[in-house]
Amino acid sequence: MSFAPIAATHAETGYELWLRYRLVVNAERLREYRQSLGAVAVDGRSPTFDVVREELLRALSTLLGWDLVISNEMTPKATLLVGTYDSSATVRSLIRRDELSGVGAEGFVIRRPFLAGRRVTVVAANSDIGALYGTFALLRALQTERSLDAVVMTSAPRIHRRVLDHWDNLDGTVERGYAGRSLWDWSRLPAISARYRDYARANASIGINGTVLTNVNANAKVLTPAYLAKVAALADVFRPYGITVYLTARFSAPIEIGGLPTADPLDSRVRAWWRAKIDEIYRYVPDFGGFLVKANSEGQPGPQDYHRSHADGANMLADALAPHHGVVMWRAFVYRSALAEDRVRQSYDEFAPLDGHFRSNVLLQTKNGPLDFQPREPFHPLFGAMPKTAQMIEFQITKEYLGEDSHLVYLAPLFGEVLAADTYARGPGSTVGRVIDGTLQGQRETGIAGVSNIGSDTNWTGSEFNQANWYAYGRLAWDHGLSPDSIADEWVRMSFSNDSTVARTIVHIMLVSREAAVNYMTPLGLAHLMGTNHHYGPAPWARLTRADWSPVYFHRADSAGIGFDRTATGSNAVAQYFRPVGNRYADRATVPEHLLLWFHHVAWTDHMRSGRTLWDELALHYQAGVDTVRAMRHAWSALRGKIDDERFTETEHFLSIQEREARWWRDAVLQYFATFSHQPLPIGVERPAHSLSYYLALRCPRDEHKPRCEAIP
Ligand code: GCU
Repeated sequence: MSFAPIAATHAETGYELWLRYRLVVNAERLREYRQSLGAVAVDGRSPTFDVVREELLRALSTLLGWDLVISNEMTPKATLLVGTYDSSATVRSLIRRDELSGVGAEGFVIRRPFLAGRRVTVVAANSDIGALYGTFALLRALQTERSLDAVVMTSAPRIHRRVLDHWDNLDGTVERGYAGRSLWDWSRLPAISARYRDYARANASIGINGTVLTNVNANAKVLTPAYLAKVAALADVFRPYGITVYLTARFSAPIEIGGLPTADPLDSRVRAWWRAKIDEIYRYVPDFGGFLVKANSEGQPGPQDYHRSHADGANMLADALAPHHGVVMWRAFVYRSALAEDRVRQSYDEFAPLDGHFRSNVLLQTKNGPLDFQPREPFHPLFGAMPKTAQMIEFQITKEYLGEDSHLVYLAPLFGEVLAADTYARGPGSTVGRVIDGTLQGQRETGIAGVSNIGSDTNWTGSEFNQANWYAYGRLAWDHGLSPDSIADEWVRMSFSNDSTVARTIVHIMLVSREAAVNYMTPLGLAHLMGTNHHYGPAPWARLTRADWSPVYFHRADSAGIGFDRTATGSNAVAQYFRPVGNRYADRATVPEHLLLWFHHVAWTDHMRSGRTLWDELALHYQAGVDTVRAMRHAWSALRGKIDDERFTETEHFLSIQEREARWWRDAVLQYFATFSHQPLPIGVERPAHSLSYYLALRCPRDEHKPRCEAIP
């Protein structure tokens, strides 16, 4: 083994994501790793084992700073062994079968037994994909400079389908994407770019095992042969990384590309068309995962166009997919465009009665909350309420309502809050996480989806910190019990530095960021105060004439107070929750204050738990949001010179935008609500820089996606 020269400088473009292997800085660790992991054997043969070899070579040669030799089978010198029970006799001799039996098809164990007098580190699994996941887990430990004693672990995913949903259109645009254009270059596919492989690597490194390539607002063209050949090329690249490809199915495809007069799911011609289409897809992609479907939602076609139910539509596709072991992920995100009824009730009212009506290969995919990916929502009441249905949760990783690319908002606290929420479906401890992982109600099919924030930008996600949300989603999809701070700590150490001051500072910034955004956008249970199209800046005054779903509809501010009465005196949406939860939300004395205005219309002068009036409390929350962003900026500025200039400067710039826009939110919203409350701002809240009329007239320069407001000084 010879020491390779250490690369002096790297341009930190962000392209490497968290797989940014750099020489281990801690000298003691470096010595330990070099002594223990110097000779590597990857004892298995398959395209996935080739990936394992490639990754170890790439990672260890830079982490350890030397040229590495990897053998394809166990050698007398090897001290790191990767293999499966079937592929490797040495694994069989060192690892007991029962140690592996609990980790299933994708899990792994890492052990450090003795072999012929020397200690070896063994990454063992039941499948080559499990061995790849174990390899990435080992590398994560090295990247975060943990002692090898701490790498001994047993790990298996708690959820089976861990999926990224790309809202990517065939014309290269991305719905709610803030990181450039689509990764999928449909015009050049089936030609393959190296980036597809890097995408797959990144996903495999955090255990993501599925990708829906296309937008839920679907285009039937992706189901035509020319596109299926392109899809097949991507599936071929992703396969060794354990990633299954899914597509969105436009319900009216039999009409649009099949030439039929109807898409009625009970029509035999329609059923035959889908059967043939699905058989055809499997000829292109033999391990195709199935369909994600948005039907009768926001103008999309669906079974209700033919007076059939969502179950009729989903089951028709499920029946055609079943012989191929494919599934249907059917979305529960539906609402009508009318004021007759509380919008947040509608998905539950539509789907809860259908429990027991779906085929076993249908997963009902429900957004985390009953409205639409707000900075904070209560959990969706459907979780736990459909015990005979496999339920997937859908999170939004792309920050449609949370500042897009420029605001630093770490989403693991949001994801974790929902997964840990107790539905009480089977008494205390019935968390959303346990509904989703199937342990609460005995579902065999389990899944979780995250709406991707990935695009063609060099740094993948539009900003360095949005990478953390992709990372955190994957880690929580694997184990929803992981804590947001431990995930942040890993990510920071892998992406920036193992220096403990740097790590502590950045982790702290991340952990306070989500509550900051809630505070300067929609505190105390408010929702959807953003501009009605771009969902970016504040527009609490906006009314929609066409669809009625507008900030004014949601906040219900009037001279008496503010908030949406969802108790028995109002829409009674509280009744959709299991009794202890519903009762808690319904009672002003017990509703968590951070959800107060979601469930109650509260007088401006009512007293809060702090003793302050609602108005004062609200204003102070907006101020706290601004103050936290200022503190984040301040903390970040201390990192100058401690991390690379590229990412330091980008983040510094984004934080300055975020601070300006947090003030914009505070000032615009408070001045608007003051026209109802007629109360002065309490002490401690800064005076707004401009009058309300200024904000009402404000036209922020905007390109397609970024209506950010440089007009705010
Ligand atoms: C939101 C989003 C839409 C998206 C929809 C969905 O409403 O703004 O762009 O299509 O969610 O999840 O289907």
